[in-house]
Amino acid sequence: MASPGSSAPGGVAVVGSGLIGRSWAMLFASAGFRVKLFDIEPRQVTDALVSLRKEMKMLELSGYLKGELGAEEQLSLISGCSDLREAVEGALHVQECVPENLELKRKLFAQLDKIADDHLILSSSSSCLLPSKLFAGLAHVKQCLVAHPVNPPYYVPLVELVPHPETAPATVDRTYALMRRVGQSPVRLLREIDGFALNRLQYAVIAEAWRLVEEGVVSPGDLDLVMSDGLGLRYAFIGPLETMHLNAEGMLSYCDRYSEGMKRVLKTFGPVPEFSGATAEKVHQAMCMKVPDDAEHLAARRAWRDGCLMRLAQLKHQLPQ
Ligand code: NAI
Repeated sequence: MASPGSSAPGGVAVVGSGLIGRSWAMLFASAGFRVKLFDIEPRQVTDALVSLRKEMKMLELSGYLKGELGAEEQLSLISGCSDLREAVEGALHVQECVPENLELKRKLFAQLDKIADDHLILSSSSSCLLPSKLFAGLAHVKQCLVAHPVNPPYYVPLVELVPHPETAPATVDRTYALMRRVGQSPVRLLREIDGFALNRLQYAVIAEAWRLVEEGVVSPGDLDLVMSDGLGLRYAFIGPLETMHLNAEGMLSYCDRYSEGMKRVLKTFGPVPEFSGATAEKVHQAMCMKVPDDAEHLAARRAWRDGCLMRLAQLKHQLPQ
């Protein structure tokens, strides 16, 4: 088993110790990186350290802890920090995880810009703020990018790497290598676009789901089954493009056979839904029949979901790719 010292080539600063910051801290520590966890609210850091200990011990007991180090060794790599400059000192990479608010993030990146040397990578976890807005005017813009995780990042490995137009290719390459090293599955967007790739796909699915319910074609419960017992099973292993390739004698054969049908159906898609009014009420009621929307039931269902994702992640790891 590697010792923390020998496997810790550098440090990572995680700025913002909420839901996503905690998950990043676990991932970096699982690969032997020293992690300094900073938050504007010192109490958040204290709480984070307590909850990380509990979660990592539980993962170790159930055999789902990532990495070669034991929980205690991984925990010894994570420390709390009450000063941003101190958090960043000696770090190779900063992973920003503060709330999704452009002004707040811009202020923080301006502070980081002043502290950063010419090697430190400044990476934002933002789900939908464009790098050109986040990093505009920074002296170290070449070292900045978005590395957007998927919740919960500990179990869902995808990370979208989104460059600013001035981000240096080496910044993307180094972040790509770091993400691979911590067991994540990075993808490179070649240019920024609103919603990145994941949310554009997700919103396309949500929009059509909504329209089908709104038009009375299918009930909310059955609509969700179309994904969870249908498309979703295959999408855990192959994407939509490979699905096309396999569902005929290769991609060109699929296009030849199905393009007319796809275009005909696509032309019947309606406008962007409002996501309000009677349909919102109907979907809300159906969802609450399954999972009441009080904190306790939602937390229990999320814990069930995370348990399923954890087992699926392990299964995927065991199966040949
Ligand atoms: P959160 O609200 O759980 O945590 C944010 C933390 O940042 C809090 O602990 C807060 O005290 C701290 N904070 C606020 N201002 C700060 C500052 N100036 N310096 C240092 N710390 C500060 O938020 P969450 O959910 O962890 O989201 C963080 C980022 O990750 C957001 O950009 C979000 O869009 C992104 N993200 C969130 C996902 C999710 O499902 N929650 C999924 C993927 C990305």
